[in-house]
Amino acid sequence: MKGYHDIVGDGGSRVLEQVAEQRTRITDGLAGVRHLVAVGSGKGGVGKSTLTLHLAGALRARGLRIAILDADFNGPTQARMAGIQGALFVPGSHKVALPRTTNGIGIFSMGSMIPESESLEFESASHGESHTWRATREFALLGEILGSFEWGALDLLMFDLPPGAERTVQYADFLGPRTSFLLVTIPSEVARGVVARSVAALSKGPNRVLGYVENMSGYYCRDCNALKPLFISPGSSGLEIPCLGTVPFDPELARHCDAGMPLAEPETPVGRALEHIAQQLLDSLEIDKEPRR
Ligand SMILES: Nc1ncnc2c1ncn2[C@@H]1O[C@H](COP(=O)(O)OP(=O)(O)OP(=O)(O)O)[C@@H](O)[C@H]1O
Ligand SMILES: [Mg+2]
Repeated sequence: MKGYHDIVGDGGSRVLEQVAEQRTRITDGLAGVRHLVAVGSGKGGVGKSTLTLHLAGALRARGLRIAILDADFNGPTQARMAGIQGALFVPGSHKVALPRTTNGIGIFSMGSMIPESESLEFESASHGESHTWRATREFALLGEILGSFEWGALDLLMFDLPPGAERTVQYADFLGPRTSFLLVTIPSEVARGVVARSVAALSKGPNRVLGYVENMSGYYCRDCNALKPLFISPGSSGLEIPCLGTVPFDPELARHCDAGMPLAEPETPVGRALEHIAQQLLDSLEIDKEPRR
């Protein structure tokens, strides 16, 4: 039997060529995308997916061409939230066409492919060893998705990242320095502490961190039309990156996400907050404000 040190070069696997080919396909596929923004946190359940979809909606309403890649392959939520669970994947002119929401946001989400009653399985070389392959397989899958779908001409491609501070940097590594990061926290010290770790980890690499959004910042009571306290925590986040805005908790937003009907109420506190953050995002990316459809 050959030992590890007996293998010459890539052992005949052509792995380097395969990686280079995939990289070229990804670069070509994303050539028409002006900006790449990953929405992460490190902390789970803070509203990354909700804000990704609703910020995309606010920007789309301004005429921007937007797509979302739900990079949470094991816990995809964009398909349900955006109402495209049953979307069909059909051939486009060169590659696979991206499913679209009724307002024209292209979305790839594993939730359109795999029903919620099933989990995403990766084949493993040997029983009980899936943990050694999982990250590799996940990023190989991300590469396949980036290379196989028609992203076309976009002003912005948003990545909805899974939780995990260490995974946030893995995505930064994989997506490369073109991708900027928008981080989401909630006003609890527990969440802020994890987001601070993501900021620290990202600061070691070349990716730009645009800032953070504080979600669930107060509770919006529709009965009394007032913002009430939700988390009792020190006012300042202590995060040394710009704050692009705060979004209150609004039960209607959660209900709309569950029902697959994104909330579009510009005159509510959530709507105004999203408008503000959308503008901050445009300013920090220096996207011109001319409407495009
Ligand atoms: N501002 C808000 N008002 C009301 N509900 C919200 C708000 N933000 C998020 N939610 C709800 O909180 C839950 C968690 O949000 P979401 O799935 O977006 O978090 P996440 O950070 O993407 O989670 P994960 O780490 O699992 O990917 C969802 O049910 C969502 O609808
Ligand atoms: Mg999510």
